[in-house]
Amino acid sequence: MRPFAPIPAAASTASASSSSSLPFSAKKRPAVVAPAASAPLSEFAREMQAGLARMPRSISPKFFYDVVGSQLFDQICDLPEYYPTRTELRILGECAGEIAKQIGPNAEIVEFGAGSLTKIRLLLDALESPKRYLPIDISGEYLEGAAARLRADYPELAVQPIAADYTMPLVLPAPMPGAGRRVGFFPGSTLGNFEPDEALAFLQLAARMLRGGGMLIGVDLVKDPARLHAAYNDAQGVTAAFNLNLLRRANSELDADFDLDGFTHAAFFNAPLRRIEMHLVSRRAQSVSLNGETFGFEEGETIHTEYSHKFTVDGFRALAVKAGFRPGAVWVDSERLFSVHWLGA
Ligand code: TRP
Repeated sequence: MRPFAPIPAAASTASASSSSSLPFSAKKRPAVVAPAASAPLSEFAREMQAGLARMPRSISPKFFYDVVGSQLFDQICDLPEYYPTRTELRILGECAGEIAKQIGPNAEIVEFGAGSLTKIRLLLDALESPKRYLPIDISGEYLEGAAARLRADYPELAVQPIAADYTMPLVLPAPMPGAGRRVGFFPGSTLGNFEPDEALAFLQLAARMLRGGGMLIGVDLVKDPARLHAAYNDAQGVTAAFNLNLLRRANSELDADFDLDGFTHAAFFNAPLRRIEMHLVSRRAQSVSLNGETFGFEEGETIHTEYSHKFTVDGFRALAVKAGFRPGAVWVDSERLFSVHWLGA
């Protein structure tokens, strides 16, 4: 599963925020659009420009996931050094019975950032007559395809994809007649990719949305820094390619001229802040142009691209309490690499 869904090309050229201020809906927009020179910049272009202009420089990780980036991410999940995906899958598989007991019959599952809908199958196979599955993903098109495959395999289940940004407040459909608990599902330690204040805000939103039900969330644990370092600096260089793909994407979709050999992947564990930091480091003094603007880089200057915060079991439970949840059972693998938490809402 990808931590953030790819932004479909249509959404990146006409962002929801700019169209909502227009007096007509996206569908009724005139077919003849303004020439490129005066067209509004895409969200990617705007954020790229703003990210390079601020100091220290940073770009949101959500732009990693074009088609190539999504494929590279899937490859990361299979790397020998990248333990989180397979460890979480093992926990979900081995503890599915207990988890299902916790959730109860006729549940409605809401998945945040659903991606390819693979992890949910482990849960669905263990649950007692799950009623409905509501995957939320920013890429509606991607989601519809995955939902169709899921429907074919689970004919009894109501599969109702929601194309939306799950970090924004969202009104869920009313429970179906006879529905059991409404349960959020947020695997992959995606919570760790948020800034701490964003992580708290997201959990608060989820707790409100799921009131009376609960949440199942996968969270990566603090561990030996060497193990963490290896997971984000794999020998085959797939994580490096994934990180650098952001610049390749800027060159192909925006008017940018990043020299892909002029930047290098750097990921390290920031122990006091308990997070992996991913950066793109300029290998030399150079300048890059983006939409006619020039940005100078010194040798060693970095663009920050992602955090992956690591938690202790107790630290995460305290955060959940702060957000309005009641922490319950925790499932951890024998090496204590990864944790899956039940939170009452
Ligand atoms: N959330 C996971 C993690 O932080 C997956 C992930 C997101 C990731 N972005 C990544 C893994 C970049 C490797 C590189 O580990």
